[in-house]
Amino acid sequence: MKESKENIFTIFDDILQREDKEALLNQRSMVIWMTGLSGSGKTTVAKGVERYLHSQGVLNQLLDGDNIRIGISNNLNFSSEDRGENIRRIAEVSKLFINCGIVTLNCFVSPTKKVRQVAKDIIGEKNFVEVFINASISTCEKRDVKGLYKKARKGEIKDFTGISAPFEAPENPELEINTSELSIEESVQKVLDYILPKIKNK
Ligand code: ADX
Repeated sequence: MKESKENIFTIFDDILQREDKEALLNQRSMVIWMTGLSGSGKTTVAKGVERYLHSQGVLNQLLDGDNIRIGISNNLNFSSEDRGENIRRIAEVSKLFINCGIVTLNCFVSPTKKVRQVAKDIIGEKNFVEVFINASISTCEKRDVKGLYKKARKGEIKDFTGISAPFEAPENPELEINTSELSIEESVQKVLDYILPKIKNK
């Protein structure tokens, strides 16, 4: 049962606001939310975006599934319930970064419309850019960078997205990057072309 919040006294009104931090950094904070199958290229693309933004003086933070799952989500598995909780935590963390004026590049499978909607609701639609990193399951399986598809096919990993757990592609992503057709550089550029005007046009 959830405990009552009657003894909680938030101080959100008294502390420096997002606008103060954004002015300090001369940028607009937002969350670039990359969704896609494991091995679709989310983190690879985000790394390129991270480096370029950094070189242009944009303070940003890359958040990635594997890193989060050994830290803040280390008690969660890949059941649909735990994936929901994983995404809820990440969304709350991202909101803190937003309030600090920072751009976050979020690389999470986030496999269902429901979990992505939860993230969008927590973060706020106007702060949220949904990017579908699209590569077919056969492409991801061929790449199999981490060897996880092989294990999933052998039944050594249960609830594996695309094999034994669902992936619902976004219907109307703000941006779609097809990494089977575009090079890494082209994919990075496409994300940058879309987000830079939003970050720098204050
Ligand atoms: S999510 O579904 O909750 O959004 P998240 O992005 O945090 O997933 O973690 C996905 C990463 O965990 C994958 O890139 C992969 O390396 C690893 N992983 C391990 N087991 C699974 C699984 N059953 N399904 C998907 N990814 C898994």
